[in-house]
Amino acid sequence: MDKLWPRQGSSPGVIAGATSQGVSESENAGNGVGVSLQSSSRDLAMPVVSGDGSGASSSSSRFGQFSEFLESNPIFTAGFGLMGLGAGLAVARQGVMRLGNLIYRQMLVDLEIPSKDKSYTWFLEWMSQYPNRNSRHLSIQTAVKQHDNGSITTKFELVPGPGKHLIRYKGAFMLIKRERSGRLMDLTSGTPFETITLTTLYRDRHLFNDLLTEAHTRAQSQQQGKTVIYSSFGPEWRPFGTPRRKRDLDSVILAEGVKERMLDDIKDFLNTSSWYYDRGIPYRRGYLLYGPPGSGKSSVIQALAGELDYNICILNLSEITLTDDRLNHLMNHIPERSILLLEDIDAAFNERKQSDDQGFMSGVTFSGLLNALDGVASADERLIFMTTNHPERLDPALIRPGRVDYKECIDNATEYQVRQMFLRFYEGHDAECELFVQKVIDLNSTVSTAQLQGLFVYNKNNPQGAIDMVPFLKQ
Ligand SMILES: Nc1ncnc2c1ncn2[C@@H]1O[C@H](COP(=O)(O)OP(=O)(O)OP(=O)(O)O)[C@@H](O)[C@H]1O
Ligand SMILES: [Mg+2]
Repeated sequence: MDKLWPRQGSSPGVIAGATSQGVSESENAGNGVGVSLQSSSRDLAMPVVSGDGSGASSSSSRFGQFSEFLESNPIFTAGFGLMGLGAGLAVARQGVMRLGNLIYRQMLVDLEIPSKDKSYTWFLEWMSQYPNRNSRHLSIQTAVKQHDNGSITTKFELVPGPGKHLIRYKGAFMLIKRERSGRLMDLTSGTPFETITLTTLYRDRHLFNDLLTEAHTRAQSQQQGKTVIYSSFGPEWRPFGTPRRKRDLDSVILAEGVKERMLDDIKDFLNTSSWYYDRGIPYRRGYLLYGPPGSGKSSVIQALAGELDYNICILNLSEITLTDDRLNHLMNHIPERSILLLEDIDAAFNERKQSDDQGFMSGVTFSGLLNALDGVASADERLIFMTTNHPERLDPALIRPGRVDYKECIDNATEYQVRQMFLRFYEGHDAECELFVQKVIDLNSTVSTAQLQGLFVYNKNNPQGAIDMVPFLKQ
């Protein structure tokens, strides 16, 4: 480079000499490429430093010769041509891509359904039944079906697997993309997070709403007439088994007027939300059902839930992994339209004391439960049911008003219940019924409704057999 760039003060003549040499080299060299390149460097360098105009004019003539030379050189012509073509294509490609994006943004619309959202399963189920689809990637999903007689069968459904699927919905094309999001896992279920993206034309975007409503209605219709039982799974509620058929309230026979009273109380509570809010009272109501085993406590709660079209969240307080924090979280995240059921509430804390004595540290503390019960502050109504066989063992703090607002003793069978149950199993056998009732009274012993049910199930369609077996009811 020192040769090409003169030091300050060096005469233009030296450089001109160098130029003429370069040109003559170029002329004499018979178009040698290496030499030409070198001379062109010199030519280009000169005008900058010469400053007297003579360099500029000579350089432009050199430049003309140089470009002439390039034009006449087939290698250069082809190279520049290709370069120009490449650059042109690149620009065109970018333009097409931009235009594509623009059209995509203007004409297409996406809808994303993450696997965390409830509509995700509804959509997959809807899709598995949808006839007009073109899927080559399928996943298997095992569905459990409960029949009217209570038996369960399993069947397999093929749902769209990860990948792209094209469907035609109400005349519009819809692209469905099911993607797993990398290595991220849902720790509560151990499955990878997924997203489903639906894409359709902008003008057909209203179809998303139709499609999701259809999927939702379909999912709901499958649960109609059923009660979903939720149990706690880590920090969240999960449906436990398949939804059960609603239990008919008439099938639970309690002492006269008890069921009706309870139902009226709940309905009254559910209809008076503003009364609670206006007075700043937490919109919750606690019910305690106590009584001997097999008297129908759990059954009536299930039947009430069915009657009100509510689901049931069962919380087992003696679960060793349940902590105060988890309890609090669970109680504040109860699925909508659900009853919270705490069964055998006395047993939880008796066991707790024992386990504390034995050095077990985990579990819910009594104060943790009280706090969780008090803290159940939600925009929705909260119905909390507790059951126990031993109300006398309960701490008064647990059953004080505000935590338990309604107490009901569900006791062993009364004469009324014996009669009603007999007639429910042996409809129209009024004469045998009176005989049966008298024999039970003569037993002079308490009889639970569960025992009666057992006797009737054993003597199905045989009222006389039930009468004969009354002595077996004596405890
Ligand atoms: N009052 C009742 N009417 C109809 N069926 C009843 C009644 N009581 C008990 N049964 C029947 O007896 C069985 C046990 O009843 P359930 O589980 O409701 O008793 P429980 O009071 O909750 O008992 P536990 O205190 O042991 O939990 C059920 O199959 C239920 O159908
Ligand atoms: Mg029970």
